[in-house]
Amino acid sequence: MANLQLNRSVFGDPANAGNLLSDEDALQLLQEWVPNDRLQLHMKQVAAVMKAWAIQRTGADEPTARKWYQAGLLHDADWEKYPNDHCRVIIEELERRNIDPEVIHCIASHGPKYFGVEPENTMDKMIYVFDELSGFIHASALIRPARYDGMDVKSVMKKLKTASFAAQVSRDDITDALSRIDTPLEEIIQFVIDNQKDVQ
Ligand SMILES: [Fe+2]
Repeated sequence: MANLQLNRSVFGDPANAGNLLSDEDALQLLQEWVPNDRLQLHMKQVAAVMKAWAIQRTGADEPTARKWYQAGLLHDADWEKYPNDHCRVIIEELERRNIDPEVIHCIASHGPKYFGVEPENTMDKMIYVFDELSGFIHASALIRPARYDGMDVKSVMKKLKTASFAAQVSRDDITDALSRIDTPLEEIIQFVIDNQKDVQ
């Protein structure tokens, strides 16, 4: 990930609480900003896992679950076209579109070391947890003939300890993200497998 300290701690306007892009506009933004299908899939996978966690583990209602989903869906929106300004560009775009400040803060805090914004609430902490792990688990699926079918947590744990496998995935970030929540890594891995396996 590029290293762009945002040097900001407040994002969006509290008056915009509850405002999200329509599903149509969010998808259009994705199509325009993210031509790379693999990156789009990554963003959709993180979105699906975020939404599932919100509903299953925090008892979120529908509008709250949509917030989690949208933060996941858009968190890397500027990565492909503005790698040196990731995630400043998407943050400013969402501020311009009057989007809920919690969604914007969540995106801003998905890499604390890189962007200089600490995860505060559960949504922030979980996007940080899921981002690298989701990509890692997908990389693990791609090398299996049956993909996600029959994939088990143990094999993922083993690959995490193999530094040469998906070497670009930062094990330090995963450890740091996990240290901020109470759920064990094994449980998170199972959750990611279950909730991103069918995302197209
Ligand atoms: Fe990501």
